[in-house]
Amino acid sequence: MITGAPDPGMAGLAAGEGFARLCADRGVLFGGDYNPEQWPRETWREDVALMRRAGVTFVTVGVFSWSTLEPEPGTREWAWLDEVLDLLHEHGIAVDLATPTASPPPWLGILHPETLPVDRDGVRLAAGSRNQFAPSARAYRDAALRIATDLAERYAAHPAVRMWHVGNEFGQIDYGDEAARAFRGWLRERYGSIAALNEAWDTRVWSQGYRDFDDILPPRRAPYLLNPAQTLDFHRFTSDELRACFREQRDAIRRSGATQPITTNLMGFFPLVDAWSWAEDLDVIADDQYPDPAAPDSPQRIALVQDLARSLGDGRPWLLMEQAASAVSWRPHNLPKSPGRMRLDSLQAVARGADGVCFFQWRQARAGAERFHSAMLPHAGADTDAFRGVERLGADLARLRPVVGGRVDARVAMLFDWQGWWAASEPARPTTRHDTIAQLERWHGALWRRGVATDIVRPGADLSGYEVVLVPHSYVIEDDAADELRRAAAAGARIVIGPFSGVADAHGAILTGRSPVPLRDLIGASGEEWVGLPDDGLALALPSGEPTGPSTARATILAERLRTDGAEVLATFAEGDLAGRPAVTRHGAVWYLGAVVSEDVLATVLDEALAGVSGAVPHVPEGLEAVRRGGALFLLNHGESAVDVDVPEGSEDLLTGQRTSRRAKVAPGEAMVLIERRRT
Ligand code: GLA
Repeated sequence: MITGAPDPGMAGLAAGEGFARLCADRGVLFGGDYNPEQWPRETWREDVALMRRAGVTFVTVGVFSWSTLEPEPGTREWAWLDEVLDLLHEHGIAVDLATPTASPPPWLGILHPETLPVDRDGVRLAAGSRNQFAPSARAYRDAALRIATDLAERYAAHPAVRMWHVGNEFGQIDYGDEAARAFRGWLRERYGSIAALNEAWDTRVWSQGYRDFDDILPPRRAPYLLNPAQTLDFHRFTSDELRACFREQRDAIRRSGATQPITTNLMGFFPLVDAWSWAEDLDVIADDQYPDPAAPDSPQRIALVQDLARSLGDGRPWLLMEQAASAVSWRPHNLPKSPGRMRLDSLQAVARGADGVCFFQWRQARAGAERFHSAMLPHAGADTDAFRGVERLGADLARLRPVVGGRVDARVAMLFDWQGWWAASEPARPTTRHDTIAQLERWHGALWRRGVATDIVRPGADLSGYEVVLVPHSYVIEDDAADELRRAAAAGARIVIGPFSGVADAHGAILTGRSPVPLRDLIGASGEEWVGLPDDGLALALPSGEPTGPSTARATILAERLRTDGAEVLATFAEGDLAGRPAVTRHGAVWYLGAVVSEDVLATVLDEALAGVSGAVPHVPEGLEAVRRGGALFLLNHGESAVDVDVPEGSEDLLTGQRTSRRAKVAPGEAMVLIERRRT
């Protein structure tokens, strides 16, 4: 095995610094998951040759290799991995080395059945797939720690290893006895006494009072609805418990002397992990993104996920750890992605802050559950449109080196957090049609179409510097978050708040009084009831209160019975029991939507609030995505016709080297990455 020494210059770097150095060295990273243990040695040679041809610079190795590395308890089979890492290094390919802990070998579950997770119905899940671990089971944690420690000690100094990847897509949930034990410990820590817990969960309701922490269970299947406070805490616990698994392995890697950045792959708006808390532990935000090529609004929706990935890292460049080169195999009906679409998706990630574009996976599996999942190198081999598309992308990304490290400068913040999402997703509420992420997507989509850059911000975080703050649906607004909104308003920010926000406290209990309790002074209006609306919604009257001719302005899904307490009324309900009541209000620079409003009304309000905030280009034609990152202007045409865009005179397209005049034409499915060049 090739040996080296850990780079002392990398030790103790601030978050993102190690990744920044890697990208400064290698350019935009390009590659994918590489599973050589599934292939004979001859194939490895072909792999590295084709990787070179495609411009691959970075691969993730070992994600699911536990049973290959440790076929019997306590054994270690390193020889193949030594060889793979050496081979990759000889070919100049950097490695993101994974701890294999997402998929324990079957022997672990046989020797320690308690390491297998249990679902909410009490069914113990079997080995034979992956992710068959109970995060709280000590025997799992110890075995994971041992293999992670040995791996790190062996390869910390290997010159190929430039990053560490802990586990994979942490998202395992367990309701078994191991989880119950750990959940009780977590609750003891949080509440101190059983009396405090009974108070926080208000266990007087339905006779749920607990005598002792030992009486408490995870929210297993019960005859009827569960206590929402218990479920909310179990969400927090599950995220924290998985994070503890991550941290144990991360700490073991550091103890081995490894100085490379350490991360794991998040999954955007994934419900089981509070990525805001995890982000503090990751040296670089890595995210897996699988936009559905069959859905026309995929580019718009994935843009929100990409803005989240960037925002989780406080604006630092992030890494697209996995995407599909073409079709996935886990949807009921899997449409392929054209090479052009795959290229555009990849460039979109770079536009929104990624300094690495990777795939699941390098070579398409011939066997196993994912045999029909696409890869960079398909079953049919290199003489394919798909592989030529990969080669083209590799060449494109190499040209984007000037973009590395560049930041997206957003003047608009959009609030989102997991605890509000969790609490708002509990059953038994005014309507289950009101969905936090769907509302976020609608509002974000309106900004996306305008080419306005947006950061996603955790409620309570510092809002200074933002000209506009959007709150599409923050069900839980704690005091710090309300204070921060007031501070932002006082500092001149314009704020738009959507319905059903500021409803509950941190235990999910409703804040009593006219709603939204924490925000009503800010919005100058208040409500007394949340009202689910009939299927076709209610007409709205704008702006004088009289319907003016045929109007498309409507409220759907959910409304509030509001009155103004100082705000001006911008729209009223025009029919039904709410007729004449305010639906949209404005109080100074704070807009309030007392209903889920139709696109036209949302657009009118956002236009007002966004006045003076410029988009990436003055006018964004339909289908075009326009983003400024550092000194580069990304123009991505997701539409089906060519568009003309006003751009700075004398810009050069990094992808083609061509200069543009003041007006650039972007062909359908094509992209430009323009930087301004002084004429020489
Ligand atoms: C996830 C996993 C990969 C693979 C892909 C398939 O991203 O991390 O191992 O299963 O899904 O889309």
